[in-house]
Amino acid sequence: MDIDGRELRNALGRFATGVCVVTTVDERGNALGLTANSFSSVSLDPPLVLWNLQNGSDAYDAYARPRRFAINVLSAQQLALSNQYARKGDHLLDPAHFRHGRHGAPILRDALVSFECELHAAHEGGDHLIIVGKVLDVSGRPGGNPLLFFSGAYRELH
Ligand SMILES: Cc1cc2nc3c(=O)[nH]c(=O)nc-3n(C[C@H](O)[C@H](O)[C@H](O)COP(=O)(O)O)c2cc1C
Repeated sequence: MDIDGRELRNALGRFATGVCVVTTVDERGNALGLTANSFSSVSLDPPLVLWNLQNGSDAYDAYARPRRFAINVLSAQQLALSNQYARKGDHLLDPAHFRHGRHGAPILRDALVSFECELHAAHEGGDHLIIVGKVLDVSGRPGGNPLLFFSGAYRELH
């Protein structure tokens, strides 16, 4: 059975997710942020998480082989950040939006939770690269509601 791309995208969109901004530093030392909802937990021991990077991303080089990166889970108040860091070719982090993590990755201020990682593995996955990170540090704030993504639109918990 041939699967229609649009149908598949719509079907996959029926899986509700949170929204993250993945942050890292490029080779010139610029802090970057890219919106992603492909985040998933992988393993507790060792502590591993993953996200998937589009092969065609303008920021591919910085994100495909990062020494350190962080996955920042957005709160319902951070919808504007999600849109800002989803703009094509425009991933420079606003200095007001981040602090430096203990292990060198930029950490988004006011995220629900941030996982600071070192690169554990990268696997080819069709038109995406599966990036597995080993969690070095977890920070965040208690409480707060998540920003959600479902059927191509942002949602909030009710
Ligand atoms: C809600 C949402 C989720 C996204 N999830 C991903 C993702 O998991 N992986 C990814 O590579 N891009 C994802 N994107 C797209 C990127 O944020 C961004 O739009 C794209 O990378 C821009 O093109 P560029 O990378 O060439 O600059 C997502 C965008 C939105 C709005």
